[in-house]
Amino acid sequence: MIKKVGVVGAGQMGSGIAHVAAQSKYEVFLYDVSKSSLDKALAVISKSCDRLIKKEKILEEDKQNILNSIHCSIDIDSLSDCDVVVEAATENLNLKLKIFESLDKTVKKEAYLFTNTSSISVTKIASITSRPEKVCGVHFMNPVPIMTLVEGIKGLQTSDETFKVAKDFSESLNKTFVEAKDFPGFIVNRVLMPMINEACYTLYEGIGSARDIDEAMKRGTNQPMGPLTLADFIGLDTCLAIMNVLHEGLGDSKYRPCPLLVKHVEAGWLGRKSGRGFYTYD
Ligand SMILES: NC(=O)c1ccc[n+]([C@@H]2O[C@H](COP(=O)([O-])OP(=O)(O)OC[C@H]3O[C@@H](n4cnc5c(N)ncnc54)[C@H](O)[C@@H]3O)[C@@H](O)[C@H]2O)c1
Repeated sequence: MIKKVGVVGAGQMGSGIAHVAAQSKYEVFLYDVSKSSLDKALAVISKSCDRLIKKEKILEEDKQNILNSIHCSIDIDSLSDCDVVVEAATENLNLKLKIFESLDKTVKKEAYLFTNTSSISVTKIASITSRPEKVCGVHFMNPVPIMTLVEGIKGLQTSDETFKVAKDFSESLNKTFVEAKDFPGFIVNRVLMPMINEACYTLYEGIGSARDIDEAMKRGTNQPMGPLTLADFIGLDTCLAIMNVLHEGLGDSKYRPCPLLVKHVEAGWLGRKSGRGFYTYD
């Protein structure tokens, strides 16, 4: 029975996962190496609750309960008694391997270890632990409180029981769960990222301005936002990391990251979270 949920990484995704878990009455332990990320996460969750109150989806008292049930820490030991931990740290293989090695040592043996990775092999992450059958991918979408999908990724070693726990846990957060095989990009990013990357090439080659590319795709294909706006929203570093995983993992040159995307990341223009990407933000 899952009662205590640990979340690793208090960025865009980790804060959202902590929010929806707390809203679904779990006790949440949010861990990050950066104190400022944790402070920012609580401010974001508070604002997100305000929006839900305005929309009459939750009450003022729910907001207090949500905030009270999220315990923040910069000490990984705070996760030791969790029943499940969802890792949502930066998209980097070596970083995730280190985190899972530490989680395996720190978190009680019967706990499940999930990763929110967008593209990295769940099988590889699982293999660094002594409990690979209890490791599984749960790929939430951004922003987590709004988006209704969780893509479940079954690593080669993931047991059926663990996958069922991941499905039940996702559904307890009011998400629809789909199953994807553990290959680069899974379903969503295998289809979405090449489109975003191609939008970057369309800009890079001067075929259209950022605004015109976005307007064309928004109105021409009925998407709620254009691909460059979406890339800014996801984070250009995350987009680049996923393209690199597709490129290396599938070995096909059609997945080569656009040089303009690489330049933006080199400049620190990571999108909304850094105030500038393809557009600028306050
Ligand atoms: N941004 C999206 O749209 C999106 C969607 C689905 C999945 N994801 C995945 O979610 C994960 C997080 O993405 P994000 O957009 O929230 O990134 P982000 O940059 O907003 O946040 C990453 C957080 O991880 C923390 N962190 C870094 N190293 C750490 C460590 N060793 N231990 C604990 N915390 C650490 C950072 O301090 C930061 O707060 C990535 O794997 C990403 O691929 C992102």
